[in-house]
Amino acid sequence: MPWKYTEEYYREYTRSTWNAAARPYTAFMSRLRPFHEELIRRVRPRKGERFLDLACGPGEPALTIAERVGKTGHVLGVDLSEKMIHLARRQARERGIESAEFRVMDCEKLELPDASFDAVVSAYGFQIFTDPEKAAREARRVVSPGGRFACCIWSTADRVPYIHAIIGPMLEHAEPDENGYLPTPYEIGGKGEMVRFLKKSGFRRATESRTSRNFRFRDAEEYLDVILRGTPIGHSLSEETSKVQREVLAAARANLRAWTNADGITIPGECVLVTARP
Ligand SMILES: C[S@@+](CC[C@H](N)C(=O)[O-])C[C@H]1O[C@@H](n2cnc3c(N)ncnc32)[C@H](O)[C@@H]1O
Repeated sequence: MPWKYTEEYYREYTRSTWNAAARPYTAFMSRLRPFHEELIRRVRPRKGERFLDLACGPGEPALTIAERVGKTGHVLGVDLSEKMIHLARRQARERGIESAEFRVMDCEKLELPDASFDAVVSAYGFQIFTDPEKAAREARRVVSPGGRFACCIWSTADRVPYIHAIIGPMLEHAEPDENGYLPTPYEIGGKGEMVRFLKKSGFRRATESRTSRNFRFRDAEEYLDVILRGTPIGHSLSEETSKVQREVLAAARANLRAWTNADGITIPGECVLVTARP
């Protein structure tokens, strides 16, 4: 019988699975710090500016930007997951960052006035949004004339062994919906895809660059713990039969062997950084 996920189903699935992964995700997020720094360099926050961070998770890059815009500036981080927002607020308190505010909000329906931010950023949100085009139009709406936009997303599967070591085997067992759609962590990561996408959503001067980093793990077990507990990938795998789970884990361990040396696992992941102007 043909079947199709609704947008509402995807949104609720996203919200609940990221809620479940929120706490361990902070360890995953700290590994993304070099990419966050690259993203921040592209928007050069100045004292007193107003920033919006879409899909901030447990608080990055919002918190780092808040330190740069200082007490006279303001950063709003928004995320669909209330657990993520709770963790981000706690981080802000612990780090004594007063200029960062965090709110539960859907990036596809921003409850924010037009032209209210000097810059909008997003790290690893656009490939997860149910309707990334809506989110891009909303980002365009809330950034002021003369403002800037920057985001980063994962590149294509072949360039992100870091994630694909486990996602590859999972995709072999996954079933697309009746339109042939199968969500992956590499949505819109192909050459020029995000640029075309932003232009279509009303942005100008969109350009992309790519940068790769190595991620290090003691062994396959540490890799699997970080990825499966710290992201909804673990939840997706738990929905498979135990036979499929065993096959996927065996295939992931086999994939990781190609990246293993005497020091453990060193595995690359490429990120696409895109900047644009309203
Ligand atoms: C991979 S995490 C990114 C977190 C952080 N920015 C980082 O760089 O590590 C993706 C986040 O997107 C959020 N998300 C997904 N769809 C969303 C939506 N429509 N609106 C707001 N947040 C959303 C999830 O709840 C999750 O926290």
